[in-house]
Formats: sequence, structure tokens, C-alpha cells
Amino acid sequence: MIKIGKVSNTFAYFVRKGKHPKNIEKMLKKIKFKADELNTDVFRAGNKKYIFIGIGSKKGDILRKAIAKALSIEGKITYIPNDLDIEEQIRLVVEGAVLYSLKFDEFKAKRDKKRYVLGLMVDRKFKRFINKVKVIAESQNYARRLAGLPPNIGTPEYMVKEARELAKKLGLSIKVFDKKALKRKGMNAILSVNAGSDKGAFIVHLTYKPEKPRIKVAIAGKGITFDAGGLDVKPARYMFNMHLDKTGACVALGVIRAVALLKMPVEVHVVIGLTENVIGSKAYKPNSIIKAYNGKTIEILHTDAEGRLVLADVLSYISKDIKPNYTFDFATLTGAMSISLGKYAIGAFSNDKCLSELAKKIGEKAGEKAWPFPMWEEYNEMLKSDFADVKNIGSWNGDAGSITAAKFLEHFVKGKWLHFDIASMMIAEKHPYYRTGPIAPGVRLLVNMLEVLENGCR
Ligand code: BES
Ligand code: ZN
Ligand code: ZN
Repeated sequence: MIKIGKVSNTFAYFVRKGKHPKNIEKMLKKIKFKADELNTDVFRAGNKKYIFIGIGSKKGDILRKAIAKALSIEGKITYIPNDLDIEEQIRLVVEGAVLYSLKFDEFKAKRDKKRYVLGLMVDRKFKRFINKVKVIAESQNYARRLAGLPPNIGTPEYMVKEARELAKKLGLSIKVFDKKALKRKGMNAILSVNAGSDKGAFIVHLTYKPEKPRIKVAIAGKGITFDAGGLDVKPARYMFNMHLDKTGACVALGVIRAVALLKMPVEVHVVIGLTENVIGSKAYKPNSIIKAYNGKTIEILHTDAEGRLVLADVLSYISKDIKPNYTFDFATLTGAMSISLGKYAIGAFSNDKCLSELAKKIGEKAGEKAWPFPMWEEYNEMLKSDFADVKNIGSWNGDAGSITAAKFLEHFVKGKWLHFDIASMMIAEKHPYYRTGPIAPGVRLLVNMLEVLENGCR
């Protein structure tokens, strides 16, 4: 919980290298405090307790980490701002506190009952701003929790139920296409991926429509509730954590949650494709040729490149039936993302330079870095099939794996489009504020981008 004003007699203060207010300087001297990054010490003065956390000479992400550390010491603290930019401090501290407050322990008998309350010693005029930052971070938490649901619980059916509940809560309209409806519409790509599963396949379309929308945006999400690889089955080590392959769909839901709660003047359509990718006697096979919703045929070379097939139908649906000004998609699409970017950034792939540059710029501010990749025409060569319009992998050795996946998606979009490959940041391990579990990256990034895009890309 975040409040303006004092909430307890435990105070948190982040110590930068340099000067501080006199009373604080005195205490720091007494305990010989060093402002090294995340160095922590506690000072008691009467019934007051001060938690000092060093942040060195850095700004930005270190503040999210520092507030998480302060909250780990004491669940209820009052934050005293230092001399850095005040809005920036509020944003980082609120984000850090909200993200850290999600514990991923809902399946344990003994849950951590600690409640977090953060008081901010700031002017009341920041109330609206604080609420906005909080809502966006909570929407990321919504996505993180959903993404982390185990595969036996977070099934396609469960996700549909969840989407219906979200729509009801937020007053969104919702359309659900089940297997029968998908068949009728000719959405054979998602149906092929689903063929080996005993669970359903769904495309869910949620709409948020404000009174006078300035732009119309569609957000697609890959929602594979478990990716075993299909007949080209994954080895155990790579199958582990593949319940998180629905993260893209969860992020898309998180974005519409924030947009609707903040009543942003943007019409938002979220379209998520939900199914498992598993083995069964009916599972789709390599060498199959299937026709996607936009009429293009796809030759299957690898059944583990399934996310792009689901998105082929979802993106076709967006360009045929929604026709937005901008299309975005979130997908844990390629393992190769971790090879190129490690765990510190997601990939941005676009047919519009302005969009990918905007993602890069806003990403750095939002604390969710996105790096633009090339989308040169040459890569299409790698996707040419002898027997169909396109094949579902670019090469057997993984060359340009993430780019060719993005180029594949491009066959199914019309208009300005940006694809986020979020596989590199699917999961955190012992992270200062994400803890251990799904990150669901992109909610903060895209909501902040939409604020700019209201007035067109520039
Ligand atoms: N869901 C995976 C990608 C993935 C891997 C995400 C690891 C997060 C962590 C995707 O469906 C997949 O299996 N991709 C293959 C593509 C290959 C067969 C061309 C991959 O990345 O190896
Ligand atoms: Zn796969
Ligand atoms: Zn996958």
C-alpha cells in the first residue's frame, strides 16, 4: 500500500555520495555510514528508526532496489526524499515497492503474511501521479502472477475465465472464439498447434473503448500455457519453466488493465491466442502445410516454433477484423533472445523506425529496456519454402533466430507494427525487487508509449 505522508516512525533515506540535510548528516557521521551501493545501516533516535541505504552516485533502477531492501527490513516505512528529482524518486520508489510486494507464495501452506505500507513525505499535489505509477506497476504484478500459474492450473480454459473476469471488472467488451469458432473462421494455425492437446484452443478479444479515442491500438499476446515443443519435443532442461510461455498474453492483459483503470483516451484491443503445445497422437507434424486466417500457407519444419503460428492467426485477425493505427505484440518467441541480449533487455522488431526508436527511448525511462533489431528484407530469403508461401523456421542451426521469427510474423500484419520478443526477460532469479519468478516485462513500457502515441509517433 502506498500513502502520502508519515505511516510509521521507521524512516527510509537513500544516501547519495555528497551532502545531506544537517540532521541526517549528523546521524550518518555517528554510524560512519558509507554511501556505497545498497550498503545498509539502521540508526535509532528515541522512538524513531532510520534505515539508511547507500545508492552511490547512481540514479534510476538503484532506487527500486533500495526501497525493496528497506521494505525487507521493515514492512511499514516512511520514505524521506533526497535531493534528486522528486517525481523521478516517487516513480522509482513506488514501482520498486509495488513490484517487490508480490511474493509468489499463493500455493504454499505457510504464506508470508508481511504487509507492506510505504508512506511518502511529499506534497499532496503528487497524488494523481502516484496513483498512476501505482496502477501501472500493479498491472504488471497482475500479469506476473497470471504468467506464473502452473500449467495444471493456468490452462487455456482458466485464462479465458480470467479474461472474462477482467472484462467484467473493467467494463470491457469481450469475444471468445473456441475451437468450433476458430474452425469456422479458418484459423488453422492455432488449431494445428492445439491438435495434440486435450485442452481447448481460444482466441480472446477484449476491447476498451473510451468516449473520444485519439487512436486505435491492438495488442496481440502469445498464450502458450505449456510449451513442450510438440512432436519435436524439448529436452527436460529446456521444457522446465515453459508454463511461462503464456507471458505475452498476460502482459497484453496487464496493459489493457492499466489503460482502462487510468481511463486513457486510447481505444485498445487485446487479442490473445491460448493453447498448449504438447505431444499426442493427434499432434501436428513436421512437413504439414497449413493455411492461416489471412490465406497464406505455412510449411511446418519445426513444431517447437509454435508461438509464431498462433500469432499468425491472431495478427491476421487484427489486420482483417480490427484495422488499428498501431499493432503491438508480446511473445516469449525465441530462446535466441537471451543469447543476444542476456537478461537485461527485450527485443523490439518493427516495420516502422519511429516505433522501435520510441520503444528504445521510453524503455530506458520506464526501466524496461528494449533494443531495436534489424528487419532487413534479406532475411525473408531464409523463410522461403519450396511448397508453401512461407516456412516456420529460418534455418536448422538457429541463425538469426529472433529476426527470422519476427520476419515470419510480418507476413501476417498490415500497417504499423512493433513486435516485442520478451523471452530474454521471462523469469527472474533472486532479483532485488522481482524476487524469483516471472517478470512479465512490457506493461510499463507500452503504457508509457501509448501516452506518447496518443499524439502520433514522433
Ligand atoms: N517458447 C519458446 C521460446 C523460449 C525459449 C522462450 C526459452 C523462453 C525461453 C519457443 O516456442 C521455441 O521453442 N522457440 C524455438 C524456435 C526454434 C525451434 C526455431 C527456440 O527458440 O529454440
Ligand atoms: Zn516452442
Ligand atoms: Zn513457445
